[in-house]
Amino acid sequence: MPDANLPAAVVTLDLDPFDMDALRDPLRVDETIREAGEIVRMDAHGIWMTGRYDVVESVFRDYETFESSAGTGITNTKRAENWRKPSVILENDPPSHTKYRRIMTSVLSQRVVRRLTEGFQERADALVDRVLATSEFNAAKDLAEAFPLQVLPDAVGFSPEGREHLLPYSNLNFQAMGPRNELYRRASEAAQEAATFVNWQMRREALAPGGLGHTIYGFVDEGEISEEDAGMLVRTFLSAGIDTTIFGIQFALLGLIEHPAQWARLREDPTLARKAFEEGLRWNAPSPYIGRTTARETTIGGVRIGAGEKVVMALAAANRDPRRWQDPDTYDLARDPSGHMAFGTGIHGCVGQMMARMEATCLLTALARRVDTIELVGEPVRFFSNWLRGFDDLPVRVTLR
Ligand code: HEM
Repeated sequence: MPDANLPAAVVTLDLDPFDMDALRDPLRVDETIREAGEIVRMDAHGIWMTGRYDVVESVFRDYETFESSAGTGITNTKRAENWRKPSVILENDPPSHTKYRRIMTSVLSQRVVRRLTEGFQERADALVDRVLATSEFNAAKDLAEAFPLQVLPDAVGFSPEGREHLLPYSNLNFQAMGPRNELYRRASEAAQEAATFVNWQMRREALAPGGLGHTIYGFVDEGEISEEDAGMLVRTFLSAGIDTTIFGIQFALLGLIEHPAQWARLREDPTLARKAFEEGLRWNAPSPYIGRTTARETTIGGVRIGAGEKVVMALAAANRDPRRWQDPDTYDLARDPSGHMAFGTGIHGCVGQMMARMEATCLLTALARRVDTIELVGEPVRFFSNWLRGFDDLPVRVTLR
C-alpha cells in the first residue's frame, strides 16, 4: 500500500499537445492527459497539466495559489518577454484585478446585454435570410464567423474600416499562449499591421459614441482608471471575445449536424437555442486550455509542485470527464450542461459569457426558425491554433421549412 505521507510519483507524458499531429486529434490528447492522472508533467514544455474536472475547478477557485499575473498561457511572462503589454484584467490578480473586473462586469451586465438583444436578433434573422439564398454554404464562415464579427465590433463602437485586422490580431493573441512554434511565427507575420491598427482602435477618439468602448472611457472621466487602462480594457473585446464566440457557435452547429435528433428538437422548439450553444461548449470547449502560475509550493493529487511552476488546465478534457458527466462524448440537449468549464469559473470566469450566449442564441434561433434539415456535404476543415479549436470550413447543405 502506498505511504500517504510520501509524495505521489510524478506521471510524465512525452506528448506535445501543440504539435500538428496532436492538433489534428484533440480529443485523443484530452483523454490522454485526463486519464494519465490528476496532474501530469508535460516534458515537452516543462509544464503541468490537468484534465480532471475536480482539479480544474479547485485550481480556478484557489486564485491565491494559482496566479494569473504571470500569464495564462504556457510562458511565465514575468520571466520571459511577452509580445505585448499584459491584460489588466485577464493577466492580473487581486487586489488590482478587482477594480477592472468590476468595470467590465458593469460594461457587459445583463441589462446591457438585454438592451442589445432585439437589434442582434434582427441582424441574425437578416444574415440567415441572406445565407439561405443558396442551399449549400460554409457554415463555419458564412454564419458562425460572419455574425459575431459584425455585431460585437459594432456594439463596442469599432470603426467600420480596418475590420480585416481583428481576426489576425486575436489569432496572434491566442497562438502566443502556446509555444513559439510555426503556428505562432505565421500568426505573428500575418498580424504585423494588425497590431498598429489595434493600438489606434483602442483609443477614445477612434471609438463611435454610444458604444461599449465609450462606456469604458466613462470610468476615466469619473477618475477610476487611467486613459491607458481604458484602452487595455477595450482591447480585451478583440483579444477575448470574437474568435471564442465564433468557434463556440461552430461547435454547436457541428453537434446539431452530427446528431440529427438534437437538430430536430431545436427545430421543433427554437427556445432550446441557448441550451444548444451551452451543450456545444461543454462538448467541445473552443478555448481548451487556461494556465496559471503557482505563487507558492502546493500539492495536487499528492504531487508536490514548487513555486513559480506553470499549471495548465485542460478545460475541454474536464468537460468530458466521465467522473463528472454521463455519456460525455454525446452532444445531448436533454442534459444540464451547467457547470461546464468552457468559460472558466471563479474570479476570472468569462465576463463576456452573457454576451456570447446572447449572440449565439440569436443566430441559432434564426436558423432553427427557417431550416428544416442540415447536413454536412464534405469533411470539416480544422483551423489550427495552439490555444483555440474550431474550423475553417463546415460545408453544409440545408433544406428550408
Ligand atoms: C464562447 C465564447 C467565449 C469563451 C469560450 C470564453 C472563454 C473564456 C475563459 C475560459 C475565460 C477565463 C480565463 C481565465 O480564467 O484565465 C474568459 C475570460 C474572459 N473573457 Fe471570455 N470567452 C468567450 C466570450 C467572451 C466575450 C464575448 C467577451 C467580451 C465581450 C469575453 C471577454 C472575456 C474577458 C475580458 C475575460 C477576462 C476576465 C477576467 O480575467 O476577470 N469573452 N473567457
